[in-house]
Amino acid sequence: MASKGNGRGLELAREKMRSAGVDEVAIDTFAHYYRLLEHGETGMIAEDSIEPLDMESLDDVEVADDVAAEAIRRTAVIKLNGGLGTSMGMDRAKSLLCVRRGLSFLDIIARQVLHLRQQYDATLPLMFMNSFRTSADTMAALARYDELPVEGLPLEFLQNKEPKLLEADLMPAAYPKAPDLEWCPPGHGDIYTALRGTGLLAQLLDAGYRYAFVSNSDNLGAVPDARVAGWFAESGAPFAIEAVRRTPSDRKGGHFARRKQDGRIVLRESAQTLDADKEALADLGRHRFSSTNNLWFDLRAMTEALDARGGILGLPLIRNVKNLDPADPSTPKVIQIETAMGAAIEVFEGARTIEVGRDRFVPVKTTDDLLVLRSDVYDLGKDFVLAQGEDEVPYVALDGDFYKLVGDFDKRFPEGAPSLREADSFTVEGDWTFGRGVKVVGEVALTASSAQRVEGGTVLDEQEQHG
Ligand code: UTP
Repeated sequence: MASKGNGRGLELAREKMRSAGVDEVAIDTFAHYYRLLEHGETGMIAEDSIEPLDMESLDDVEVADDVAAEAIRRTAVIKLNGGLGTSMGMDRAKSLLCVRRGLSFLDIIARQVLHLRQQYDATLPLMFMNSFRTSADTMAALARYDELPVEGLPLEFLQNKEPKLLEADLMPAAYPKAPDLEWCPPGHGDIYTALRGTGLLAQLLDAGYRYAFVSNSDNLGAVPDARVAGWFAESGAPFAIEAVRRTPSDRKGGHFARRKQDGRIVLRESAQTLDADKEALADLGRHRFSSTNNLWFDLRAMTEALDARGGILGLPLIRNVKNLDPADPSTPKVIQIETAMGAAIEVFEGARTIEVGRDRFVPVKTTDDLLVLRSDVYDLGKDFVLAQGEDEVPYVALDGDFYKLVGDFDKRFPEGAPSLREADSFTVEGDWTFGRGVKVVGEVALTASSAQRVEGGTVLDEQEQHG
């Protein structure tokens, strides 16, 4: 995996960042990870160096109402919104997509926060971490919420940008046809660099805030819940992540563990797992919890940790290989140097995790997830919190050839999502288009070798349908 540079790559990348106005700490941070990349750093975590992690559950902890209220009044909310939803064929922020009743992810996030402010008489500032690619659209979509900005604090801050590097020689890639594509955001681990570099970390502390709650903008379950805030404040921990129990579909995904060497909590991703340890990774009885990316940190502890390390937390490197133009496979392979926000858990002694319900983890990574969210599986209450109608969320698998890209998906559900509340599973193979008010009941599998239409009002009931 070692990538050989020719010595000039880092120098040129630094110059490129400087002339684009990237701040010095962000450049130093990039240089730190560039050197790791050059030395073939893989960030592997061997099974025999870790042990399984157990944790308490939010259901079992008692948090007094006044503790919860006090904690939420000292909390600032940050939404990660710098990604482009490329897995769904988007080149804009996923959070701009409509979820239901004409409301986008951004609308629902804004309304959840406005509601909590009233309920707790809290200032609860909301800030989006945007990238240079998501800022303009996001700010335009939020402009209708006059009351959202909190005096003295911005509604967004921008994450840094860094050059994509040619896989062949680690030189910054050039693409005069579309120079924007020469750059990428450095993954959501950049939040710490960006918070410090923009001065926002100090600004929040000066304004009297003590805690940050950070989550993905594509997870509408990540409400800044006062009980969790209260738990975190009472724990006195510098840093915490909300965890969920792994399910069979998470077998290949990452999990929490405890490092034997120093007792720290770590997150191990599948890319950091040796082939010989893949079986242990998939063992749901052994490694039981994965991350929601809902994260709490103490603003003071974060400031101290960053100051002590010259602004560089030193997170595990993620080597993300893509095409220079993601939409054009004939363009050269590039490496995007990234880090993940949750990996910072290993930096903090005394960091904690807590098990939360699936209601706090409703990520939209694919159009399958989007269909569930647009259907009647969830209700949207007056507090704009998603409420699950049935115990189980149905399993949805749409044909990748016709539904993977959000544009193709929208064309096939022009009148909205079918009712899925009574569905157990819904599998679609082939090119099916759905009319208004279709209802799926039980286990339904559709297959077709030519384009088909399900008429409006049809009830698909425990059946295999062939077109
Ligand atoms: P993901 O990587 O899961 O989603 O990031 P994405 O980037 O939106 O989608 P793909 O992978 O391109 O399909 C999880 C969260 O982190 C944010 C995203 O906006 C999302 O809310 N993120 C990701 C950033 O804010 N900055 C980044 O550099 C990367």
